[in-house]
Amino acid sequence: MNELRRKIEGEILERGPIPFSRYMEICLYDLELGYYSRKAAQFGKAGDFYTSSDVHAVFGRLLARQFEEMWRMLGSPVQIVIRELGPGRGLFAQDVLDWSEKKFPDFFRALRYDLVEQSVALRARLEETLKRQIESGKAVIEPSGAKAQYSRGLIGATEVAPFQSVHTIVFANEFFDAMPVEIVSHRGSLRIDSRNGRFVETWASPSAEELEFLDRYSIHPEEEERVEVTLLAQREMLSACEIERGFVVVTAFGERESVRSSR
Ligand SMILES: C[S@@+](CC[C@H](N)C(=O)[O-])C[C@H]1O[C@@H](n2cnc3c(N)ncnc32)[C@H](O)[C@@H]1O
Repeated sequence: MNELRRKIEGEILERGPIPFSRYMEICLYDLELGYYSRKAAQFGKAGDFYTSSDVHAVFGRLLARQFEEMWRMLGSPVQIVIRELGPGRGLFAQDVLDWSEKKFPDFFRALRYDLVEQSVALRARLEETLKRQIESGKAVIEPSGAKAQYSRGLIGATEVAPFQSVHTIVFANEFFDAMPVEIVSHRGSLRIDSRNGRFVETWASPSAEELEFLDRYSIHPEEEERVEVTLLAQREMLSACEIERGFVVVTAFGERESVRSSR
């Protein structure tokens, strides 16, 4: 039997049916077996999906121009931090740093680029991709878990060195939509149970927080409808906004049927 499956079944045996968010969390983010922890490629030509930076450097270059403009709007401070959440294999960071170094030297001088990535395998990739920038202190991989507060302490959190700068641009691409969600239908809040070697769906009463979410957006699922309740993404977004002065830039894109990648 597949190891990940055995792990999920073990947890269900111990705790009873688990919330869908916990099931999604183990599948994606289990430290040894989760999708993003695997050594195998997930991104780009050799992987399962593309994000913008997998296609071409132009995305990072455009955003570098935008970040430089934001820096000027903040009064060209002597130090500014770009804090990227979920940088994956680091292509976006590489493109922003390379383009800034070439085109915006004053901004580049003020810049420190912090990377917040929970996957150990991807942190190793970041160290390779950004070797030169990390060695010079221009890029810093933050200790994992600084921002992750998943239900069962997904990651062994360590303290992050406080920013020297009061100016921060938080950036996230395809990050918040990769967070575990709850699923709510007219039958309640989804739980995953295990019976006779199969995962089955059961339903529990929605929590007060889930009901408040549905009310806030006036979404009350009818029969055959299911709604993703993005409580964790909302919490993470609020925490991303805890900056003294600066900007929070969040991007995500829809699917394209055919994409040609140069990477
Ligand atoms: C869909 S990928 C996007 C990667 C990259 N931003 C890109 O556009 O190619 C989501 C990334 O977020 C990371 N991630 C998810 N939850 C995280 C958390 N709480 N803290 C840090 N990284 C996280 C994943 O490991 C993965 O690298």
